[in-house]
Amino acid sequence: MTVLVLGATGKTGKPVVDALVAQGVKVRAASRNPAAASESVEPVRFDWADRGTWAAALSGVDGLYVVGPYAAPDAAELLDALLAAAPQVERVVLLSVLGADMLPDAVPMQAWEASVRASGKQWTILRPNWFQQNFGEGAFTATLRDGAQLRLPAADATVGFVDTRDIAEVAAAALTQDGHTGQIHIITGPERLSHASAMGILGHAAGRELRYTALTADEFAQELHDAGLDDRSITWQLGLFTLIRDGANALLTDTVERITGHPARSLEAYAREHATVWRSTARGGNPEPALRGVRP
Ligand SMILES: NC(=O)c1ccc[n+]([C@@H]2O[C@H](COP(=O)([O-])OP(=O)(O)OC[C@H]3O[C@@H](n4cnc5c(N)ncnc54)[C@H](OP(=O)(O)O)[C@@H]3O)[C@@H](O)[C@H]2O)c1
Repeated sequence: MTVLVLGATGKTGKPVVDALVAQGVKVRAASRNPAAASESVEPVRFDWADRGTWAAALSGVDGLYVVGPYAAPDAAELLDALLAAAPQVERVVLLSVLGADMLPDAVPMQAWEASVRASGKQWTILRPNWFQQNFGEGAFTATLRDGAQLRLPAADATVGFVDTRDIAEVAAAALTQDGHTGQIHIITGPERLSHASAMGILGHAAGRELRYTALTADEFAQELHDAGLDDRSITWQLGLFTLIRDGANALLTDTVERITGHPARSLEAYAREHATVWRSTARGGNPEPALRGVRP
């Protein structure tokens, strides 16, 4: 089996490559700037915005892990077009998001889910909760390191933050094992944490105080606007935080343990592994606008 992993340099794609390689699967790792990889991983150039890159990336592939073109205005059409361009692909695993069916239309995941369901392929949809990796390898990292503060409109609602390595193991199982076709896997971490508690955990690991400041939705929208985000992105992010405040992200599932055989990784373990990331303190205070690019 050969699997094309889209977004192979990203927070889920990278560990999906690792998980597939560990199972002896031949992997093609897609990026707009492919780098040389290991013997079992073939780097390939793939750009959602350049259809000329698609055929070579898809050639000879029978499994596909999809991190969709979330930033594209024509995100829904692009996935339809890719699936139509890949008649030989039998199995597709789509990265969606927890609550995809409750988010505003600006968020393309619901349309993507409809596309894979209608594709005639053996599909599995992953709906993960917020990634733990946002704190250490994502949009929150610089804010925490330089400003020691996270400013979000999450109130004191709780979230089952999930480690993307667990998502990746579920994805690899769905790509290589039977029994996942037509399933929607809701993937969460092992515990419910407010953003204030999450900051306590990361701060304890890093040995410094990291604070969470609750914003109103309007304050948050203004910060995003001031940071240059477009209206669609702002609507999207407000929708995500409405879900959190409504309690939807407090959901915990046993998906990781059921499919991988081990418990879901905790935020505490993630924080211990990545503690140095939040340590280098610059000036303190003066945080960056909360979220420039995160689009869970
Ligand atoms: N972050 C969360 O908490 C969370 C939770 C649930 C669901 N999600 C979903 O996860 C997905 C990924 O989000 P993320 O923020 O974590 O990003 P990410 O996967 O860490 O990074 C984005 C990936 O997409 C690739 N990419 C970007 N533009 C591309 C293009 N034009 N053509 C081909 N590849 C492109 C990048 O590869 P190159 O730069 O190497 O080309 C990179 O590997 C989104 O759909 C998001 O909604 C996120």
